[in-house]
Amino acid sequence: MPAVVAVVALGALGWYWFSSLVPSSYSVMDMGRVDYGGGPAHAHGAAGVSVADLTAPADGEPDVAVTLAARARSFDLASGERVQGYTLNGSSPGPAIQAHQGDLVQVTLTNVDVPDGVTLHWHGVDVPNAEDGVAGVTQDAVRPGERHVYRFVAEDAGTYCYHSHQVADAQVRGGLFGTFVVLPTAGAADAQDVTAPVHTYSGHRTVAGRTGVTTVDAAPGARVRVRVINTDNGALRTWVSGASYTVAAVDARDLSGPTEVRDQALLIAAGGRVDLLVRAPARVDVGGETALVVGPRGTRLAAGPEPGHDLDLLSYGSPAPLSFDPEHADRSFQYRIGRRIGLLDGKPGFWWTINGHLFPDVPMFHVSEGDVVRMTISNDSGDVHPMHLHGHHAVVLSRNGVPSTGSTWWIDSLDVADGDTYEIAFVADNPGIWMDHCHNLQHARDGLVAHLAYAGVTEPYRVGGGADNEPE
Ligand code: C2O
Ligand code: CU
Repeated sequence: MPAVVAVVALGALGWYWFSSLVPSSYSVMDMGRVDYGGGPAHAHGAAGVSVADLTAPADGEPDVAVTLAARARSFDLASGERVQGYTLNGSSPGPAIQAHQGDLVQVTLTNVDVPDGVTLHWHGVDVPNAEDGVAGVTQDAVRPGERHVYRFVAEDAGTYCYHSHQVADAQVRGGLFGTFVVLPTAGAADAQDVTAPVHTYSGHRTVAGRTGVTTVDAAPGARVRVRVINTDNGALRTWVSGASYTVAAVDARDLSGPTEVRDQALLIAAGGRVDLLVRAPARVDVGGETALVVGPRGTRLAAGPEPGHDLDLLSYGSPAPLSFDPEHADRSFQYRIGRRIGLLDGKPGFWWTINGHLFPDVPMFHVSEGDVVRMTISNDSGDVHPMHLHGHHAVVLSRNGVPSTGSTWWIDSLDVADGDTYEIAFVADNPGIWMDHCHNLQHARDGLVAHLAYAGVTEPYRVGGGADNEPE
């Protein structure tokens, strides 16, 4: 009798183990749980337009054309420290790409020698789906010796970045990223423009690729727009020493009625961007000894005390009308993040869950083009998660039941702290199959990934498979 019990128990364990395995090759459309968010169901899979065909206009001379060559190697930071990682055209961050609103942007990515393959994802840019750069979802990884061309129109002015979305955790941490800024077309710039990507390379916290204090020339009294971009896996706390500042934009969307901020820090989610308006001389601190000083050459500005408070964007600025009505949503989804002991791809551990399930048994959120979509993101997993939806900007409606009373707060990367619940809403206006994941890319690797799929879109790519696509 005990032998039978043991066999049955082993059998059950074996089945549990087996059923946790992630197939070596699969379409993201076949994984997880279909979720229509209370809206009408629709057939999906077989017929429709392929992700590969959801492109920008194919012809026309690009206004901005860039070629980026990816390499795996050790390299020197601009401040001299040697690190092991990845470069684009010989450096990390890669070239700062700048366009004007309405420009046709063309980027040719060549993979010189990154063994795992590479892609480029236009983080925060609501590009057509085929240009989204996710290995196994919107393209195959670019193997060594191969190339891939991205083409899209820079529709929305703002601060963005680009990064590999193949083996993303290792490649982004190792430096395979750069900044992308879209300047408004109309009128002269209201301020001097400075781009400040913050990244930690093997323990070295940098601004624009340098440790320590980096100085950018600015005349005393000049207004400067500092575009702070967080390309790390954790939240970035930034503040301005010696001056007040104004938060002009968050995640590439202008805030309305922003007011002057003093003695408060600002938390930037992993993948998040903020535009700070300061008056020179000013010192933008990002923790440790690392800072950006804007001021006349030779300016020395000591770090002020780190503020004890964080600015709350839920009540910052003044409201502006929305172009859609989130009270009449076509679909409402839950994105509940938890954590439990279980098997992920056969490995026992304390893993992230989405709506109670482990990857790949996670939701597939289905929408139709034109839907107004609400999503409730809650987190009781014991850690913070910077949640990033590709291809769309969403507006924050509330946090923990408290409605947003400040500026319309558009996000594409939203820090959801442990214990917090956010309600967000967006218009499904960009057909495709889009990742919706945690931008702590280590967490994404550990299964904190779901997707948003449009009715009538089919998926020709596979995760794994011959191209060894491994998006996270
Ligand atoms: Cu910047 Cu899917 O990520
Ligand atoms: Cu996370």
